[in-house]
Amino acid sequence: MNTEKRISLAAFDSIDIVMLGGLPACGKSRFATTHLKQGRMRVNRKEIRRMLYEMTRFGEPWSDEVFSYSDEYLVSHVERRIIEHLLENRHRIVIDNTSINRDARLSHIRLAKSMNKSIGMIFLDVPAKICLERNEKADQPVPESLIANLAAAMELPDRSEGFREVLILS
Ligand SMILES: Nc1ncnc2c1ncn2[C@@H]1O[C@H](COP(=O)(O)OP(=O)(O)O)[C@@H](O)[C@H]1O
Ligand SMILES: [Mg+2]
Repeated sequence: MNTEKRISLAAFDSIDIVMLGGLPACGKSRFATTHLKQGRMRVNRKEIRRMLYEMTRFGEPWSDEVFSYSDEYLVSHVERRIIEHLLENRHRIVIDNTSINRDARLSHIRLAKSMNKSIGMIFLDVPAKICLERNEKADQPVPESLIANLAAAMELPDRSEGFREVLILS
């Protein structure tokens, strides 16, 4: 796949917020470390979720089985405050979430607009079959059903959503 070939991300260099997207285990976090670490701070919703859960439950480990919609309001709040904090301090950031469809992307696009920050999206359009294979070998695999559900809900990004740049890698 061309994420492994030489790709030019020059168009994203000056963009304040790079939103990464793609199915679980498609390679977002690895891509972020390889291509976006230089000059950016990273925000990852799942790691916030895990940290909040384990802190408040005296270290009881988080797993996908304990996912609770009622906790998501706090996760969103903390995620938003971290993003605002980093942007207020003039950092460029990468948001390393699945951001699988327009609905999932909307709040971050609105936040960027309200803070007068530029936002672009890099979407790793990796087939679900390959994600399932990578997931099997991953350190912390997600339930297979999650990959299937998100594959069914996937919408490729479009500049009309409010992005300055969009790059879809397949
Ligand atoms: N381009 C790639 N080719 C092969 N394996 C990959 C590639 N990108 C990521 N992986 C592997 O797939 C697994 C999931 O990658 P990760 O970056 O954690 O995905 P995500 O952050 O999208 O969930 C990891 O074990 C990682 O090493
Ligand atoms: Mg990841």
